[in-house]
Amino acid sequence: MQILILGAGAGGGFPQWNCNCPNCQGVREGRPGLTPRTQSSIAISSDGERWLLCNASPDIRAQIAANPELQPRRGVRDTGIAEVLLVDAQIDHTTGLLSLREGCPLDVWCTPSVHRDLSTGFPLFPMLEHWQGGLRWQPIMMDAEHRQVAFSVPSCPGLRFTAVALDSNAPPYSPRRGSPTPGDNLGLFIEDSAGATSLFYAPGLGELTDEVRDCLARADCVLVDGTLWHDDEMARLGITQTTGAQMGHLALAGERGMIDELDALPESTRRVLIHINNTNPILDETSAERAVLEDHGIEVAFDGMRLTL
Ligand code: MLT
Ligand code: MN
Ligand code: ZN
Repeated sequence: MQILILGAGAGGGFPQWNCNCPNCQGVREGRPGLTPRTQSSIAISSDGERWLLCNASPDIRAQIAANPELQPRRGVRDTGIAEVLLVDAQIDHTTGLLSLREGCPLDVWCTPSVHRDLSTGFPLFPMLEHWQGGLRWQPIMMDAEHRQVAFSVPSCPGLRFTAVALDSNAPPYSPRRGSPTPGDNLGLFIEDSAGATSLFYAPGLGELTDEVRDCLARADCVLVDGTLWHDDEMARLGITQTTGAQMGHLALAGERGMIDELDALPESTRRVLIHINNTNPILDETSAERAVLEDHGIEVAFDGMRLTL
């Protein structure tokens, strides 16, 4: 299985257009040790030809331009993006579908709750029907009774997918903001059919359940939520009082934070952080926080990073 990190940043990207936090200011000034990042998205393939786009970010156009695998190579109209999967209905994970309209009809895998939000509050599904039939919903039937759903994706032969319910949050525009239900956020456990290698991808992870800990423990590589260093990081910078916990993102630092959780994994597990907010000090390669990650054997994803499992 091959994984392309298209965008390792959280919503807003790095730098964020209206942000003057030390990181955003620094990257604009070209300070060494800071690298821009586009918004949260990866692509997965088993044959290197057909790619499953996991999340469609507002930066999709730049991400396609940066990744030849996703570009047209065969017909007069063509793409390496065979299908799309959404882990939630957040703006930073779905807005890119608007930019893919010329490629409709497009198969989009998501849960009933995500489909509902994208048919009402942010009506991408009904709207895009006017483009060659639009988005064809491929349901991942997750609900309170089905917190784990196994499925396969036609464009990724040989890969077995399990969607796992995550405790995080529904998008700010969703009627379920603050009281999410199973299906609002999912993690993906992906293994090749021989069971030889596996990935757990969870860019939005608020609290770890036993199910999630089990997935983390079983995966050869974990690609998980690295949004914030401190839960109150944005308040410390005078940006907003909203905490990571309220947004559905477990902070890296602190007792039972993500670093502690990753420390509990088998030594051989590859640990990579993704969906990193522009305020997070780990974006500065010269920071003390980045050195802490290195001590714990934790990597920070960057745009253009490739994982081969
Ligand atoms: C999140 O990951 O919590 C969201 O992308 C935040 C947002 O929509 O602004
Ligand atoms: Mn996000
Ligand atoms: Zn910033």
